[in-house]
Amino acid sequence: MELFDSHVHLDDEAFAADLAAVIDRARQAGVIDMVTVGIDVASSRAAVDLAGRFSTVHAAVAVHPHEAGRAGPKAMADLGPLAAHAKVVAVGETGLDYAKDYAPREVQRRVFIEHIWLSRERNLPLIVHCREAHAEVLEILEREQPVGVVMHAFSGSVDVARACVERGYFISLAGPVTFRNARAAAQVAQEVPLGSLLVETDAPVLAPEPFRGRRNEPAYLPHIVQRIADLRGCPPEEIAAATAANARRVYAVN
Ligand code: NI
Repeated sequence: MELFDSHVHLDDEAFAADLAAVIDRARQAGVIDMVTVGIDVASSRAAVDLAGRFSTVHAAVAVHPHEAGRAGPKAMADLGPLAAHAKVVAVGETGLDYAKDYAPREVQRRVFIEHIWLSRERNLPLIVHCREAHAEVLEILEREQPVGVVMHAFSGSVDVARACVERGYFISLAGPVTFRNARAAAQVAQEVPLGSLLVETDAPVLAPEPFRGRRNEPAYLPHIVQRIADLRGCPPEEIAAATAANARRVYAVN
């Protein structure tokens, strides 16, 4: 089974002590490729650096909505050249987080839109983080028209998922789909057409069952794939193959 983890944070300090082992375990678990996603300029730089060191690691660069308050003109200017690096496959993660509201909403919106402009300028897809802001995120995406969209760790309803699929966005499912109480996520996992589905760990956070609450790592991706396969009543190999092919397509990875 060959898997593609569409969203990880390998530069996180949780991996500082054993990153090579983490990547090795991922490979043994069948996770052939992964995208390590930046959350600020330093982390985006680290993502590009990691992508340069490991052949199976690709990078995405952005300032996370949690950090949007610190994303001044300098930060956005710094992201431009980073996004031009050969192993950068997306701009992200960016979006709106109205659950935490760490940055003022007005600032989050401005920074989100600037990231969409960057993604268009570089012809890269956009990795979108969205919490309790789906109506507004969809409205901004509709208006600003990024070249491609990955809805990361999708937390919306089935209706929102359908609207995303209609527009050609990819729905990336993470650990919560394995949680017993995650009924919306389970429904989304059943409804989204295979051609629009991606899978991710979002490691080191959002560990799937049976590792919930512990440090997550890309090697746990098969647990998410297995759960989606169980929900859809198909072999996990089918989910693995389709989601890997989709990831290669949206991120333009061979
Ligand atoms: Ni993330």
